[in-house]
Amino acid sequence: MRNRSFLVLGGSGFVGRHLIAQLAARGARVTVPTRRYERAKHLLLLPTVEVVECDVGDARTLARLARGKDALINLVGVLHSRRGRERGPNDYGPDFAAAHVELALAAVSACRDAGVGRLLHVSAIGAATDAPSEYLRSKGYGERAVLAADDLAVTVFRPSVIFGPEDRFLNLFAQLARWFPVLPLACPQALFQPVYVGDVAATLVAALEARDAAGKVFELGGPRRYRLRELVEYVCRLTGRRRLVIGLPDWAARLQARAMELAMPVPLLTRDNLRSMQVPSVTDQPLPFGLRATPLEAAAPAWLAPSGVRERYPQLRWRARR
Ligand SMILES: NC(=O)c1ccc[n+]([C@@H]2O[C@H](COP(=O)([O-])OP(=O)(O)OC[C@H]3O[C@@H](n4cnc5c(N)ncnc54)[C@H](OP(=O)(O)O)[C@@H]3O)[C@@H](O)[C@H]2O)c1
Repeated sequence: MRNRSFLVLGGSGFVGRHLIAQLAARGARVTVPTRRYERAKHLLLLPTVEVVECDVGDARTLARLARGKDALINLVGVLHSRRGRERGPNDYGPDFAAAHVELALAAVSACRDAGVGRLLHVSAIGAATDAPSEYLRSKGYGERAVLAADDLAVTVFRPSVIFGPEDRFLNLFAQLARWFPVLPLACPQALFQPVYVGDVAATLVAALEARDAAGKVFELGGPRRYRLRELVEYVCRLTGRRRLVIGLPDWAARLQARAMELAMPVPLLTRDNLRSMQVPSVTDQPLPFGLRATPLEAAAPAWLAPSGVRERYPQLRWRARR
């Protein structure tokens, strides 16, 4: 990896933080374009990383940044989209179109213009052009756009939900459990196979080294499948909070999601998220490149389990059944 250089789109986010740390630790040079410099400031502590504030969606800007790089890695993704009027023929919102489809096309065109032959693209399990949610449909069109570029060595990764110290999944439930005695849960039966962020990053790094990864699509899951209810109950146990988790019927889940869409600038849950959860986020594939998936129970206590005396108080009460 020493003397190799990479352009990482979406590198300022959760997966980017871990991927770029692993690349930098191996001596690689990394350029991270971002729409807001502030979002990527934590990366500046790494000596071989450069952060550039720019119009990330502009193919010519990307081509300029991609010149001389060994590979382009696309981590860009969003969970929600406004429902703007400009919904295209494939019926997904403008933010999904920009982040998942147009940016994938811009990445391909930047690779071509800059003579970069290698492209890694992160999608999601369940992505398909006929999927029930706008999120998964737009991810499906994004995959189609990069895989059509058969003049490039493209590898697509489709993770299940990703967990790690900065995730917005387990940490969200930990926060909710902190503040609310009862947790009304949409889609309690939804299936997930959480994969550790360090494993996702290690898979991407291994793919950069592998000779036979081009043209392949890898699904990334952890060692076990869970229902959403099990995961929330696990988080409550781990944080020592005795909470009542109530599974909502579909009509109530839709109402809950609609209320959040109306009341919150960045909703915790949307009706489109509910439609995504209809598709089991699980895989039969083991991690590629001989990597072994980290169990949730081995990693999550490091940041979810209370450590100080005050933080441990709820857990002690839990154990004492009080
Ligand atoms: N986290 C999960 O559980 C999970 C599960 C399955 C798949 N994935 C996929 O894995 C990838 C990485 O996820 P993550 O959790 O690291 O996401 P994240 O923390 O939300 O980061 C996503 C990044 O995308 C960039 N971005 C968003 N919209 C953009 C746009 N329109 N144009 C340019 N850049 C844009 C943001 O960069 P700036 O704001 O700095 O410009 C941000 O750093 C995504 O493709 C995601 O869909 C994640």
